[in-house]
Amino acid sequence: MRPKKTFIIIGILCFWIICTYLIFLKNFNNLINDNTHEQENNEIIFNKVELLEQNIRENIKNRKEIYNKIVNILKTKDLAQPKQPVSSQQQQQQESFSQLSIITSSLSPSASLSIIGALKQQQSNEDVNKSKKLSPQNDLSSIKSRYIDDNPNKPVIPILVFACNRISVNKCLDNLIKYRPSKEQFPIIVSQDCGDEATKNIILSYNDEIILIEQPDQSDIFVPPKEKKFKGYYKISRHYGWALNTTFKEGFDSVIIVEDDLNVAPDFYEYFLGTYPVLKKDKSLWCVSAWNDNGKVGLIDEDAHELLYRSDFFPGLGWMLTKELWDELSVKWPKAFWDDWIRQPQQRKGRACIRPELSRTRTFGKIGVSNGLFFEKHLKFIKLSEEFVSFSTMNLTYLQKDIYNEVFLTHVYQCPVVSFDELRRGLTTINNKEPIRIQYNTRDQYKKAAKLLGLMDDFKSGVPRTGYHGIVSFYYNNQRVYLAPNVNWKGYDLTWS
Ligand SMILES: *[C@@H]1O[C@H](CO)[C@@H](O)[C@H](O)[C@H]1NC(C)=O
Ligand SMILES: *[C@@H]1O[C@H](CO)[C@@H](O)[C@H](O)[C@H]1NC(C)=O
Ligand SMILES: *[C@@H]1O[C@H](CO)[C@@H](O)[C@H](O)[C@H]1NC(C)=O
Repeated sequence: MRPKKTFIIIGILCFWIICTYLIFLKNFNNLINDNTHEQENNEIIFNKVELLEQNIRENIKNRKEIYNKIVNILKTKDLAQPKQPVSSQQQQQQESFSQLSIITSSLSPSASLSIIGALKQQQSNEDVNKSKKLSPQNDLSSIKSRYIDDNPNKPVIPILVFACNRISVNKCLDNLIKYRPSKEQFPIIVSQDCGDEATKNIILSYNDEIILIEQPDQSDIFVPPKEKKFKGYYKISRHYGWALNTTFKEGFDSVIIVEDDLNVAPDFYEYFLGTYPVLKKDKSLWCVSAWNDNGKVGLIDEDAHELLYRSDFFPGLGWMLTKELWDELSVKWPKAFWDDWIRQPQQRKGRACIRPELSRTRTFGKIGVSNGLFFEKHLKFIKLSEEFVSFSTMNLTYLQKDIYNEVFLTHVYQCPVVSFDELRRGLTTINNKEPIRIQYNTRDQYKKAAKLLGLMDDFKSGVPRTGYHGIVSFYYNNQRVYLAPNVNWKGYDLTWS
């Protein structure tokens, strides 16, 4: 029985050894497996890192290439168009930036942002250097002569452009420069208030095409508490007073005033050249204006390019005044609302302006002091004359008071009188559409007729817009119509305003 026991013990031992061996073997295998896994992982990570490095290197290379390309594009554009107004240059650069954004969108967002940021920074540095280079002449003494060839019939007439913070002033300046027949005879002086940098840079980009002067008094202006919302009008008045004083001090004979939201007609300069002698000679005139307050399509004879009028209503919006008038007004210049002030009898003293049938200026829209509604409902329909009229070679003597009153007033009061109703129903065209007259006797009659006919119906100091001796001339269904008071008219009534 002993050997049997021994066998069992040996058997158990062997089994135990085999088991231990197997367990050991399994653990060992696990250990080896773990090691190879780790190695594999390490390899994957290593590969990834390498790929990343490669990507980064490529990114950096791309970045440098793109950067160089963009800088070259910007440089060549600058070189190719050195005299282009800043606005369009900025636009091009903006376009470059948006192109760049598209290119760099393939890169990581932070990379493209940093490139664009760097470029913008560079651009602004260049801008700073540019505006230093383009130092404003800021000096009217650069305009040497007061008369061309010392000929008193050829005055140098500065165009005084009033600017503040509207960068759209470039639309006005482009137009003024485009039609200007002579830089010597019509120097463009841009007077800027407000000190707005963006607007100033645009003005400066015109280099020696224009002269910039800057209203120096940027102190807060005193406004009575009740008129706080009209502060803008106080600033405008201060600006006008300063700029006109500054310009006339240089000894110019007359100045044409243009606001920064005006476009001008092709014969804008010719119109003022032609009317200048009449304004100088006839002391009953005090201004020439390029504006017709009722100059909308439908209310004007669009073929009457040469037709001019006298007007008791001061139109403004592109107008010429003489040094004598400024000497008279400058000493009592108002703190605000200068245009209403100038229309008062104490200032106007019965004097008239010359105005055209077809406007030689047109406002392209004002954001700011004036309200936008007036533009949308009225101003944007004013027709800008497109035909060139050689006013300076025409005989405009007919605009002198004695001749004009004789001819114009006689003509108006010889026209047959019709009622508004007859006009509207077309019962007045029997006589070949000859000029006719509608009579008004009271303020309300005038206002009612004006409203129905589409005319401006307001009065300033008793004067209806475009009125001369109370007469308002316009077109209705291709027929000349005069809205006129009765023949015994005694003058304007201030209470009609
Ligand atoms: C601007 O000008 C200064 C010296 O006038 C110069 O040192 C600087 O590099 C210029 N900057 C740029 C962006 O051209
Ligand atoms: C213009 O200058 C004159 C003379 O120096 C001065 O009396 C007048 O007040 C000034 N007017 C304005 C509006 O600045
Ligand atoms: C100009 O017109 C006026 C009347 O309008 C006339 O008396 C004068 O003779 C004209 N002058 C010339 C040079 O034709």
